[in-house]
Amino acid sequence: MRELLTTSLFASEVSTGLCQSGQKTLPSKYLYDALGSGLFEAISLLPEYGLTRADERILRRYSREIVSYVPKPAMVSELGSGSGRKTRWILSALCEREPLSYYPIEISRTALESCESELRDIAHVSIVGVEREYLDGLREVTALRPEGTHLLVLFLGSAIGNFDAGADARFLRQVRSFLLPGDSLLLGTDLMKPVEQMLQAYDDPLGVTAAFNLNLLGRINRELGGDFDLRQFEHVALFNEAAGSIEMHIRSKREQVVRLRSEEVSVVFGKGETVWTESCRKYTHKSIGDLAVASGFRIEAQWTDEEWPFAETLLCAQ
Ligand code: AVJ
Repeated sequence: MRELLTTSLFASEVSTGLCQSGQKTLPSKYLYDALGSGLFEAISLLPEYGLTRADERILRRYSREIVSYVPKPAMVSELGSGSGRKTRWILSALCEREPLSYYPIEISRTALESCESELRDIAHVSIVGVEREYLDGLREVTALRPEGTHLLVLFLGSAIGNFDAGADARFLRQVRSFLLPGDSLLLGTDLMKPVEQMLQAYDDPLGVTAAFNLNLLGRINRELGGDFDLRQFEHVALFNEAAGSIEMHIRSKREQVVRLRSEEVSVVFGKGETVWTESCRKYTHKSIGDLAVASGFRIEAQWTDEEWPFAETLLCAQ
């Protein structure tokens, strides 16, 4: 049943995004099927893409210091657990003080499964996967909170960057609405870097990011009966200076018509027309501070990586 519902949501979001007038769009959350999750793992190993390694370095190096801000007893939830590798350091540090429940929230079943098997060996942590969209999942998790228990929400890997400016604060305000004053949010944000370096990170010479992006069309073919010819499309990464974000697009190399069997629609692409598939916003210390204030949090502490500018910010719900 859940599979069916998920598939029809995918189908309707795809046809809405491709059939609207003006800029075509596809939601970036659909990049992560089994193949897309595997390609993202490969991206995180690319020399040009330092984001994931910086995130993990900070969490590994400062996990004890980070958890020293979290009152006992605590429970942990994570928005988009991914593979779970980075989360290990926080969970290990926390479970040295007390047994712990950990609720990863993920719409990607592949990611949820790999997170569960990656972290299973940590003693005294019970893992309860929640296969839901972020906010639905968080609503469910907070309803399970035992009285007097402190909630630590993890939102790592700069996934917040996938929201546009303004939408990030709206999203965090919704997160805040499920929390109690004093609860914590650990937020990972990639920091602004020289444009050339950012473009290399999202358009690597091996073509892994291109494959990751084009796989979204492959997924539509596999799951929705699409007939995209992937060779007739190409990956584009650009820096949108006004928005402060890297954008990923898929560009049609020629004029063409693509059919989606499950939706009984045809989509016309002009030569050079693009589908916008992802925004990756880059933050500054100032924009992180503004984001915190706009969403009902205050900054409690912050750790940064020097090698690849990235910030881990511990926010406290006001
Ligand atoms: C997982 C959302 C942080 O925005 O950098 C990597 C995804 N996209 N390469 C990012 C991604 C292209 C990534 N996040």
